[in-house]
Amino acid sequence: MQTVTRIQTLQRRLQNARDQDRRIGLVPTMGFLHEGHLSLVRLARRHSDCVVVSIFVNPAQFGHNEDLTRYPRDLKRDCSLLRKEHVDLIFSPGVQEIYPDGLRTFVEVAGLSKLLCGVSRPDHFRGVATIVLKLFNIVEPDIAVFGQKDYQQLLIIRRMVRDLNLKLRIIAGKTVREPDGLAMSSRNMYLNARQRKQAAVIYRSLKWIKKNHRDFRTAARALAPARNMIIRAGGRVDYLEAVNPDTLMPARKIKRRTCVLAAVYFGKTRLIDNITI
Ligand code: PAF
Repeated sequence: MQTVTRIQTLQRRLQNARDQDRRIGLVPTMGFLHEGHLSLVRLARRHSDCVVVSIFVNPAQFGHNEDLTRYPRDLKRDCSLLRKEHVDLIFSPGVQEIYPDGLRTFVEVAGLSKLLCGVSRPDHFRGVATIVLKLFNIVEPDIAVFGQKDYQQLLIIRRMVRDLNLKLRIIAGKTVREPDGLAMSSRNMYLNARQRKQAAVIYRSLKWIKKNHRDFRTAARALAPARNMIIRAGGRVDYLEAVNPDTLMPARKIKRRTCVLAAVYFGKTRLIDNITI
């Protein structure tokens, strides 16, 4: 396993792999890895012969008042976890390497980027789409793997790939959960012991909707008790919505394939999760 910080060095190594007809798989991350990321690495391994994991905390996807400076980082630990997964290359560039002249060009997937998380994080998804496209151009992978926990991000990236005729396949990895159901996320480490316990209500409420939605005539009515469950447990609901799984437009009624997505604050920490009916 090699860790490289320079684009040129990375591309030289990747050319060697390509010369040996190895298929390249990319797992983009912001580091502080957990079992969820590692499951994406294993998925990439199943679909490619040379696995590249990028570790880059991308300033362009954080709003002014968000957690960019305190976002957890531990490159040494990340490298040791990835070594155990037999990753071929880690790409961990600095901000200067990625944005040497600042950033004037953005990719925006219109519509999808402004819904759900896009309401409280208006520039977030253009930051994500831009860095992901840059990583695709730098690495030129055959496949790239993203987690289903970030459902809206996954949809936006798939749409960008389609709209821009990018020549790679996007593969989605299942959400990995803690024993009490909380979706694994690097941001879980911000929670204190009380909030960590409370946060399990997110998945509990999503499962409740999946089980009970048939008892309600509209999505709004099915979501209301789940919203109350979250509030009673101490969460502040940013959104809890039932949407069409392809367009993210609100669903009038919850049925098969409807996606229910949630963003909930515990203290200052905002967590997201989703379930497909
Ligand atoms: O999901 C993430 O960790 C980030 O949004 C990504 C895809 C690595 C882009 O910075």
